[in-house]
Amino acid sequence: MLKREIFENRLKERIDELREIYMYLYDDEEMFQSLCENMRYFYEQRPQQLRESDREKEKNRDWYKKNDMIGMMLYIDNFAKDLDGVSEKISYFEKANINYIHLMPFLDSPQESDGGYAVSDFRKVNEKFGTIKDLVNLTEKCHEKGISVSMDFVMNHTSDEHEWAKKARAGLPEYQDRYYFFDNYSMPALYERTVPQVFPTTAPGNFTWLRELQSYVMTTFYPYQWDLNYKNPIVFNEMMSNFLYLANCGIDIMRIDAVPYIWKEINTPCRNLPQVHMLVRMMRIIDEIVCPSVLLLGEVVMEPEKVVPYFGTVEKPECHMLYNVTTMATTWNTVATRDTRLLRNQLDFISRLPKDFVFLNYLRCHDDIGWGLDYNTLRSWGMQEISHKQYLNDFFTGKVEGSFSRAELYNESLYFNDARVCATTASMCGIEKALGENDKEKLDMAIQLDTMLHAFMFMQSGIPVVYSGDEIGQLNDYSYKKDAKKKRDSRWVHRGKMDWQAVDKIDDVTTVQGRVFKNLQKLEEIRKREKVYASNSKCYTVSTWDDSLLCIVREDEKDKIIGLFNFSEEKKIAWIDEQDDLYRDIYTDEVVRASALTLDAYQFLLLKRMNLAKPKSKAVIAQKPKGLKAGPPKGVKPKMWKPPVYEPKKKEEKEKENIKGKKDKEDISKKRKK
Ligand code: GLC
Repeated sequence: MLKREIFENRLKERIDELREIYMYLYDDEEMFQSLCENMRYFYEQRPQQLRESDREKEKNRDWYKKNDMIGMMLYIDNFAKDLDGVSEKISYFEKANINYIHLMPFLDSPQESDGGYAVSDFRKVNEKFGTIKDLVNLTEKCHEKGISVSMDFVMNHTSDEHEWAKKARAGLPEYQDRYYFFDNYSMPALYERTVPQVFPTTAPGNFTWLRELQSYVMTTFYPYQWDLNYKNPIVFNEMMSNFLYLANCGIDIMRIDAVPYIWKEINTPCRNLPQVHMLVRMMRIIDEIVCPSVLLLGEVVMEPEKVVPYFGTVEKPECHMLYNVTTMATTWNTVATRDTRLLRNQLDFISRLPKDFVFLNYLRCHDDIGWGLDYNTLRSWGMQEISHKQYLNDFFTGKVEGSFSRAELYNESLYFNDARVCATTASMCGIEKALGENDKEKLDMAIQLDTMLHAFMFMQSGIPVVYSGDEIGQLNDYSYKKDAKKKRDSRWVHRGKMDWQAVDKIDDVTTVQGRVFKNLQKLEEIRKREKVYASNSKCYTVSTWDDSLLCIVREDEKDKIIGLFNFSEEKKIAWIDEQDDLYRDIYTDEVVRASALTLDAYQFLLLKRMNLAKPKSKAVIAQKPKGLKAGPPKGVKPKMWKPPVYEPKKKEEKEKENIKGKKDKEDISKKRKK
């Protein structure tokens, strides 16, 4: 088929649906034609090898659902100075079994830019990282080694130094229409009634006063991140051109940053509105017409009911992948409570979703950990939202007796009774504390917990992503406190510079770096080897009769792996019963019967059924797992978990805080109205 024909065929197949949505939102045929012309242009511009990859992946649409994808996210400057530096580290990715890298924002942005999340030019690389040519060079080198490259597409806002923002500031109405401008506070005040705040402490409110223009501009995030107005078709068209331009630089996975926020309506929370889904559906169609090998990864940091709709439906998909944020937060909840019940509920919820939905699993990312948990269930177990959050925050910041974690609070708001936490995985697992106290026993325990959490993450369906540095147990970096531009944003505590001197120690298993790296390497190799880790295999949880132990089973027509994870520092027995077969622990190589197994503190077992007998037919596998019938022998009482006795703050103390919180809020709104 001729190059042109391929495009026209794809367009023909999808144009009706695309037009229908576009007309619904914009009712502008001329702009629609212009969008199609842009698509044609970027298709023509698309490099030959990327078009080949498109065709291959079109034939093999499930390529990213296999077991062999493992990701790493990194800030370019912290990792290797610039894009060329990252190119030089490809052999490190290979050693760490990484075949997908997420480069944190690298497009042109002012110095103060929320780590690059305020873009001033979507077609230019920030000089400190290199050039577009270096980006293309890096993606080409990665592709040669089978590594996919991901980047952020920050589409909710631009920097206030973007060309459009500058023209809007100069008073050009055509450019002001690309943002949300208001010449007095009456409309912003209406919005503020229903729109929650993303950064209540570091950037309160949703609007910023522009003195020189005597106007307000909508800024959901920081005041220098101006929200784009997608009600204006030119904004959508231009941003899609930027998207396609970047796709043509060899980007394989586009992380659509802050996607729930891209459409605003008065009297709504301005999140997850139906129009957002229409925009994402159009993006998916455009992607499939011009560059079908490119995957859309939606960043929706919300509760599961809000996240899942971003997959769209099986017939009309939106994002290819989404972050498994609730599982991430619930994992840390489990670490703090030693109670796996909520996590089990969450895993069961995920397992019930269509297998086409692929989640990106992670223990932590560059952002904070917010406590978006299922509070209805927690309440039914006697835990209240505010005191539970308080417990979690106190636990992770090391204030609770026996806590081993070293995290910092993030956006603590006394008024909203909320706070989140920031730290590296190693620091949350106790490595920092144990090293500080020079306590060998505690260090062993912390490394064990760190490894167990990674083993658990790798056991989940989807794609695991490690934050660079976590693979060598890197600790918190407190140097951000000395940087005036960063000190108010504690997320920088877990975004430290990659310590390459520490990396030199990864082959020495007497060091922390060597121990963590080797453990993770082993887990990565297991994941890549065992096909049963593919996203579409069966995955379910089984009762262990002990709330601190989690049992996950992965199963396909050929194989079965039982994963057991002890989330407590006590020795525990998992009362599962799979008497018929022998199992090999693929992590330790031990052969066992999967029945009444003892697990030490934070121990995990990855038991693979030894296929001594004939493989079972599909029909048998589809039946209920035998383990459900198991349980402890008569007279043995498994230890049940009790909610932590956590004294909520005294009334007077709370009142004092609330008064202070209210005052803070008043001060803020006064400031904004000035
Ligand atoms: C996303 C990013 C976060 C950033 C925000 C604003 O949530 O993950 O780091 O602050 O978008 O762009």
